[in-house]
Amino acid sequence: MSEEVGFTRMAGERAAGDAPTIGIGMLGYAFMGKAHSNAFKTLPYMMYPPVAIPRLVAIAGRNEDAVREAARRYGYEKYTTDWRQLVEDPAIQVFDNGGPNDAHAEPSIAAAQAGKHVFCEKPLARSAEEARSMLEAVEKAGVKHMVAFNYRFVPAIVQARRLLESGALGRVYHWRAVYLQEWGMDPAMPTSWRFQKGPAGSGALGDLGSHIIDLARFLVGEPVKVMGMAQTWITRRPSGEPGGGMVPSDVDDAFTALVEFEGGALGTFEASRFAQGRKNYNSFEINCENGSIHFNLERLNELDVYWKDDAPRETRGFHNALITEGFHPYWSNWWPHGHIIGWEHTFIHEFHHFFDAIVNNKSVAPYGATFEDGYRNAVICDAILESARTGRTIDIRY
Ligand SMILES: NC(=O)c1ccc[n+]([C@@H]2O[C@H](COP(=O)([O-])OP(=O)(O)OC[C@H]3O[C@@H](n4cnc5c(N)ncnc54)[C@H](O)[C@@H]3O)[C@@H](O)[C@H]2O)c1
Repeated sequence: MSEEVGFTRMAGERAAGDAPTIGIGMLGYAFMGKAHSNAFKTLPYMMYPPVAIPRLVAIAGRNEDAVREAARRYGYEKYTTDWRQLVEDPAIQVFDNGGPNDAHAEPSIAAAQAGKHVFCEKPLARSAEEARSMLEAVEKAGVKHMVAFNYRFVPAIVQARRLLESGALGRVYHWRAVYLQEWGMDPAMPTSWRFQKGPAGSGALGDLGSHIIDLARFLVGEPVKVMGMAQTWITRRPSGEPGGGMVPSDVDDAFTALVEFEGGALGTFEASRFAQGRKNYNSFEINCENGSIHFNLERLNELDVYWKDDAPRETRGFHNALITEGFHPYWSNWWPHGHIIGWEHTFIHEFHHFFDAIVNNKSVAPYGATFEDGYRNAVICDAILESARTGRTIDIRY
């Protein structure tokens, strides 16, 4: 079957060869622990032949019963309640940090110092200063590093970048991005690390905003100044502990920001945990000289595209393109066109990219987000919070 007609080669057409094994040490067994473990298990037979075969050496968490169960469920050889054992384990080459934001810096730095390649969930850190210390550690250690901005690995988003890079769209005038969820609205919901500045750094900004800030940098370029506003509507939440009462909730429930990019494009960012009806609505529109692109994560196999010279002019307008052909990014690994993929597949693509960088000594940038990208992202998040606090426009300086 030819890629040109949009069918994939399907697995089995190429020989496996001798893929090296990469030992994985995973910190965290909950949401991201599950998403990453799923990717490790699927990668060797879907990204075929695999660039490397992940060996699930050990997983770390704080609760022994739960981490033992996670090791059994996902197939890790060992479990531990002390992440330092991952850092010391010679069978581990990649330290995968899927812990909460306050567990990113110390373990990731220790892993780099022990010579492990480091993959860390986003946001890289709770502040630009903390992110900078992580960047310095991985650079000094000379290890490969990547931040889990997984939306860079949605085929439709890679396709959008290719269109922008080709110059076909011409000059970019507008970037408009929202990342909207609704799960924070119930005042009776017990608190978690996500509602507390100590462990989280920020709220909707670091959690959701960091993703759309990364996409803006990936697709449009560097912001040069930002102006932001942030709001916290529920300031106390149940502790969730028996007799624990109410505890402060001191992060932003939502933020909005204006941005100016190098080259003069104007943009907006908005993220909220209070957008009634919105589940995981990560959406952007880019308006350019020759056309526009619109994307919505809840329809992640599609791009809405407008070309100003489309013929016939009588039917010119935004049209919907299904990004599932064999010639679209990553699609040759999946299914015949129209047999769509989902959110979890972005993690498979990003780990394949990271393993390729390790095994073949390639650069993680520009398609993957490095700790440099994580640091720059944190500078922009800090600037938005500073602007919200002071009412001033803040220049971005790295
Ligand atoms: N890329 C994405 O789309 C995406 C989505 C969700 C979360 N995240 C990020 O992933 C990270 C984790 O989020 P989550 O939703 O998986 O959180 P979670 O609360 O579901 O899981 C956190 C895990 O870390 C473990 N943990 C906490 N402190 C630890 C410590 N000191 N030592 C060892 N283990 C520890 C917990 O036991 C738990 O297993 C966060 O930085 C978050 O922002 C990214």
